[in-house]
Amino acid sequence: MKTKFILFSIVIAGVNYLIFLLAGYFGHPFYGMLISGMASLLLAILLYRWIIRPIEDLKTQLEEADEENTKSEKIRSEFVANVSHELKTPLTSIQGFLETLQEGAAENPEIRNKFLDIMAIETARLKRLIEDLLILSDIENRRNVSMEQQIVIHQSLQEIISSIMPIAQARGIDVILTVDTSLKIQGSEDRFKQMMLNLIENAIKYSRDGGKVRVSGELIPETDKVLIQVRDQGIGISSEHIDRLFERFYRVDKSRSSKAGGTGLGLSIVKHIANLFEAELKVESQMNEGSVFSVLFPSQKRN
Ligand SMILES: Nc1ncnc2c1ncn2[C@@H]1O[C@H](COP(=O)(O)OP(=O)(O)OP(=O)(O)O)[C@@H](O)[C@H]1O
Ligand SMILES: [Mg+2]
Repeated sequence: MKTKFILFSIVIAGVNYLIFLLAGYFGHPFYGMLISGMASLLLAILLYRWIIRPIEDLKTQLEEADEENTKSEKIRSEFVANVSHELKTPLTSIQGFLETLQEGAAENPEIRNKFLDIMAIETARLKRLIEDLLILSDIENRRNVSMEQQIVIHQSLQEIISSIMPIAQARGIDVILTVDTSLKIQGSEDRFKQMMLNLIENAIKYSRDGGKVRVSGELIPETDKVLIQVRDQGIGISSEHIDRLFERFYRVDKSRSSKAGGTGLGLSIVKHIANLFEAELKVESQMNEGSVFSVLFPSQKRN
């Protein structure tokens, strides 16, 4: 900035001096001074508008782009660190049990079976983590997706609920579905099911035994938007966690979620799919009373 200012002043002073000399040479020192003063002013304005300001604007743009780059690089490296950590934890556990078995624990059938069970659980966790990461990457890159299907909401939700009924039943949780059978939206049925499965799975997972999970769908008449809600009467989420809930790997209670086989990627998958559908997501929750996850799909009239 300083050198630019010095250069700027030298150019103006130079031009000023030249005009002054020329005017003096032709015998009009007063007019010479006047003209050279005005010319310097004009030159200063032009130099500023055409050269200095565009350079300053370009510099600001470059700085902004640089900041943006640093930010996305930071997010990327945090993501890689998180993925590595999440992969390493079950792997370390499997390795530990394997070594103990190799060192002789395998001879005791009771210990052997117990260790093998834990290893099976950890392996399933690893598999789920990798599947979730692949789904996220597919959604982010909009791979394997046709948004042209007509999704019959009742049928789709019924299929999802049937698939997780054994888990709900084992804990005495009732899942109640209320959706008009004619309600439809347009999009990818696979993605829709992935999103709803994650929400209903969470509602069950974070419910108390014997609780109720309500899944409802309705057409909002004034706007033609479709609202789907998943309600539970479970543990609830305190307000300070709500904003971060949809971040990858974010878990309110890490140990509880891990015990339940959670990867912390479920809600981030939900958020990405909601973006794909151009839908709005909302969470309302009361500690110890339960949570409501709402997805508001855009007007279906355009179809
Ligand atoms: N219905 C809910 N009630 C209470 N807490 C919830 C509910 N849904 C999500 N959460 C909280 O939000 C966190 C993030 O949810 P998310 O679905 O992303 O991960 P997860 O359930 O732990 O793992 P995953 O879904 O990958 O198996 C959960 O760990 C849990 O703490
Ligand atoms: Mg989940």
